Amino acid sequence: MPNFRILLTPGDGIGPEVLEESTKVLGRIASRFGHEFQFEEESLGGAAIDKYGVALRPETVAKAKDSHAVLFGAVGGPKWDDPHASVRPEDAILGMRKQLGLFANLRPVKVHPLMLGDSTLKPEVLEGTDMVVIRELTGGLYFGQPKKRWTNAQGRQAVDTLRYSEKEVARVLHVGFQLARTRRKKLTSVDKMNVLRTGQMWREIAVEIGREYPDVALDHMLADACAMHLLRRPASFDVIVTENMFGDILTDEAAMLAGSMGMMPSASLGKRRKDGTGIGLYEPIHGSAPDIAGQKKANPLAMILSAAMMLRISLGLETEAAAVEAAVDQVIRDGYRTPDIANTGSHVVDTAKMGTLVAEQIVVAHISPRRK
Ligand code: IPM
Ligand code: MG
Repeated sequence: MPNFRILLTPGDGIGPEVLEESTKVLGRIASRFGHEFQFEEESLGGAAIDKYGVALRPETVAKAKDSHAVLFGAVGGPKWDDPHASVRPEDAILGMRKQLGLFANLRPVKVHPLMLGDSTLKPEVLEGTDMVVIRELTGGLYFGQPKKRWTNAQGRQAVDTLRYSEKEVARVLHVGFQLARTRRKKLTSVDKMNVLRTGQMWREIAVEIGREYPDVALDHMLADACAMHLLRRPASFDVIVTENMFGDILTDEAAMLAGSMGMMPSASLGKRRKDGTGIGLYEPIHGSAPDIAGQKKANPLAMILSAAMMLRISLGLETEAAAVEAAVDQVIRDGYRTPDIANTGSHVVDTAKMGTLVAEQIVVAHISPRRK
């Protein structure tokens, strides 16, 4: 019986609520497909600041390194938001990414046909939207040194540094080209080469690496233009690759194409084995949503779909991943919605009910062929 070690890091806000639903679904997958998932749990983020005075303990990183994958809820909240605080909950996610070497963040954006009307964009603009944004995750403006604040005679000063090495840019571009090969064979490399030296280097390297993938159509776009085209013609994108900070901003924007951030999973990946598996961190992109924490309103689908990505990528369980995605699709087709995606005629359910519906659907799919 294959045995997988999964580290659970619920974090803050709605993190624990949505994470619980994903383990509920994984429990069904385990019994349905005969796997054993060993779950271990670790506090991080604000929860760990309260308990241990730090957002991320070395013990947690060590446990993560010893696991097949990490399921990450969310971190942050008003309680820890003092700009003068020496530790921040966000240090936990940044530390995990960096210390586990997770340099490529995959954020798929797909608009469910039944949810075309839920976005603020017109359905005809959205139709056919199906892209993956790959955000470089361990370099760029987030991590470049120097990074500090100080005061001098002129007043307060601060600096962040946008720095990249050729190696860092090349490896994330390779992830993009390889993914594009399995999809519609189109890669958009996003930079800001009209202003930034890093952008010029990024584009140069993209062109060079592109020669190794003649079957993939490569185009280049400035980050600001990309922000515009995401709203204007989202369906024209297949795979996008970009710098850490641009990727942070563009993926929040892209997520809104789908109507709610509550539907958007993500995978953060590092070096992988030949068969494509390797440790990854899987998290919904919505964050801790402290305004609705504890109210049973959170949409667990992004976390559940993140668990599906984990099954597929880190554990190499394609059939099981597809079963989770089919179950989510069926529950949406059956009209169930959490409040964030509710519309007229839908059955509004709470977080736990949504998780149960998805889990039960996996069993139904097993017993009888799925209804059309
Ligand atoms: C994200 C988040 C994080 C980021 C925060 C919580 C540090 O916004 O994963 O997109 O900026 O990377
Ligand atoms: Mg973000």
